[in-house]
Amino acid sequence: MADNEKTYTLTNDETGVSIKLPVRESVQGPPAIDVSSLYKDAGVFTYDPGFMSTASCNSKITFIQGEVGILEYRGYPIEQLADGGDFLETAYLLLNGELPSQQELGDFNKLISRHTMLNETLKHFFGGFHYDAHPMAIMVGVVGSLSAFYHDSLDINDPDQRQVAAHRLIAKMPTIAAASYKHNIGEPIMYPRNDLSYCANLLHMMYATPCEDYELDPIAEKALNLLFILHADHEQNASTSTVRLAGSSLANPFACIAAGIASLWGPAHGGANEAVLDMLAMIGDVSQIDKYIAKAKDKDDGFRLMGFGHRVYKKYDPRAGIIRDVCHQVLERLADNDNPMFELAQRLEEIALNDEYFIERKLYPNVDFYSGIIYRALGIPNNMFTVMFAIARTVGWVAHWMEMMDDPRQKIGRPRQIYKGYPRRDYRPIGER
Ligand code: ACO
Repeated sequence: MADNEKTYTLTNDETGVSIKLPVRESVQGPPAIDVSSLYKDAGVFTYDPGFMSTASCNSKITFIQGEVGILEYRGYPIEQLADGGDFLETAYLLLNGELPSQQELGDFNKLISRHTMLNETLKHFFGGFHYDAHPMAIMVGVVGSLSAFYHDSLDINDPDQRQVAAHRLIAKMPTIAAASYKHNIGEPIMYPRNDLSYCANLLHMMYATPCEDYELDPIAEKALNLLFILHADHEQNASTSTVRLAGSSLANPFACIAAGIASLWGPAHGGANEAVLDMLAMIGDVSQIDKYIAKAKDKDDGFRLMGFGHRVYKKYDPRAGIIRDVCHQVLERLADNDNPMFELAQRLEEIALNDEYFIERKLYPNVDFYSGIIYRALGIPNNMFTVMFAIARTVGWVAHWMEMMDDPRQKIGRPRQIYKGYPRRDYRPIGER
């Protein structure tokens, strides 16, 4: 059914005055009641903290049906894209709407690899951070600083220039991420190698040194490729909505992505992958699980089961299922199948999934519950987990930024509030207070 044919009627119970609100249909998923003219027509706002029931935009990029655990990029089920697909192929799909031909993918690979280097002066930025700075803090700073290199020269009203900015961001994220890791461990920053795949190049920049090449581990490359596909986009999550909101003021895209990285860092969002491993280390042993489950259920205790629960998924997060299966394969192939963290995580999952508290609230493992175990098995340190997530999610962020910028109806994002402060009062000079 076309937009506007269906309506909802909102009635003021005091005055009996009604207004009709048009319904906006989705291709899949629930329709939305369009309240954009409500304030103009009825003088009231809607109230929805945390956007529990609010759609903020139209989008053609990703579809999620959380009640049944469905995730699709441009209509393609995540399970199919993850099964042998390539991360840059997924990136092309998210950016352009269609899967690439062989020729298009080859050209796209070449295009991205041509943008992987950083301006040499950017190296000095890393030196400004203390050696033990969290790599996500470095990412926020350095990615934001790219706006200084591409500001006057970038016309965000030109779709071609927007695309170049998107390609630059996707290409430079691994270089910046690896450099923040090298800074952390005190090794020289490595230059990118354009003959390697996206993920192999990241591993090279993290693990090679000027004295020694990194011998590519195909298991690590494959596992990273899969994790990056699974993390590439997730519709209007907190960090993507942050990028859209920052971008809605027509800000520089590099600064907008830095805002997205900041939002991703929080433990309630992408920072959960690091928090899961910290939590497993804290639990330490299967015998302690009951104690921590009780803490997670105690409302007076701030402890939550990290990697559990999701705003949208009320069934198993499909990405978590894929990652759990791959965990088995990766650990087996790395001859690490006696991994106590993985055993602990599986036992914790089993106990939580059979506990009334978690069943009632439909709390299942999310994408971050098992991803850290794979990263850890690949030798990636805990504080780099969320950085890995940020590299992959940059594709989603720039795809959403471009979609928003292409939309002629796009407006600056400006929520309203219910004011609960003082009513008007008069200022008194300091001596009279
Ligand atoms: N452990 C214990 N209880 C939980 C958890 C958890 N991990 N998650 C939710 N709950 C409980 C809440 O206390 C609440 O209980 P109540 O109804 O008795 O008050 C109920 O479940 C609903 O939780 P909300 O916080 O209202 O749900 P919301 O949709 O706002 O939050 C979130 C979702 C932030 C992901 C939450 O589940 C959480 O904090 N999880 C742990 C952190 C995490 O893993 N984040 C990664 C999410 S995936 C991603 O962003 C990449």
